[in-house]
Amino acid sequence: MYARVAAITAALMGGTALTVPHVSAAPAETVPHVPAAPAAAPGPMIISHRGASGYAPENTLASIDKAADLGFSWVENDVQRTKDGELVVIHDATLARTTDAEQRYPGRVPWRVADFTAAEISRLDAGSWFGSRYAGARVPTLEQYMRRVTRNHQKLVLEIKNPELYPGIEKQTLKVLSNEGWLDRAHVEHKLIVQSFSADAVRTVHTLRPGVTTAFLGTPKTSELPAYARFADRINPSYATLSTRYVAAVHAIDGPHGRPLKVLTWTVNDAATARRVHGYGVDGVITNKPDVVRGAVRGH
Ligand code: G3P
Ligand code: CA
Repeated sequence: MYARVAAITAALMGGTALTVPHVSAAPAETVPHVPAAPAAAPGPMIISHRGASGYAPENTLASIDKAADLGFSWVENDVQRTKDGELVVIHDATLARTTDAEQRYPGRVPWRVADFTAAEISRLDAGSWFGSRYAGARVPTLEQYMRRVTRNHQKLVLEIKNPELYPGIEKQTLKVLSNEGWLDRAHVEHKLIVQSFSADAVRTVHTLRPGVTTAFLGTPKTSELPAYARFADRINPSYATLSTRYVAAVHAIDGPHGRPLKVLTWTVNDAATARRVHGYGVDGVITNKPDVVRGAVRGH
């Protein structure tokens, strides 16, 4: 097909098309319409993991701004809860790795997120550990985060992290999403995925708001996939566990909305691995370095 199109194009330009008699013999005005080459199939979704966390401190507003600056709309985050019940965006169950909590609150080992109030957490520096230019970046509340994602016209894969530590966090997360206008049809159908390593949390979200697209983080046995497909629209495995056969097995099953399950894999930060998982047929790649993945597989 492509050779034929190329030959016809060359013929119209007076080139080597003379070697293609059935085309070159036709007068120019009667040359049959040549269909355009089909557009290249879109690459996988590219999701900036904890924001563009290879370049800016994870789960901060700076990290999603960086993703936006690089031209990426999908971002991923992690949601947990403070002592006084505020939802905040942070990955670890403790504050030690990504903030200055150890210096600021030396007596409060092990610096659990759940042991600090929102006001206390709001005073922490969540940027200096990554680089001095990010000094003063904060741990955002989910509300602050949603407003920035909205302002940036971005889309969100929201992870409910450690839900076993925070009873009712699924309902509370949905409430914040609703308050911020993220549970209307446009968002639910095109801009939001809620995921968790906890199947119970994913099932709860699906039960509370069946329209929301959900994802289970992990690699269930293929024999177990039909059970997950009752409440999860996506199966999101570590890239290290993947194969072409596994991706095909996931795609063969319809999810709770009657459409085939999809696969978003994590966390892929180099071009060779991006090409490998693209070859497996994944639908999305979650990455700290979205520009590297885009360079390798031309995703979106
Ligand atoms: O989105 C996938 C990925 O975030 C899961 O692992 O530990 O980075 O939250 P983790
Ligand atoms: Ca995550």
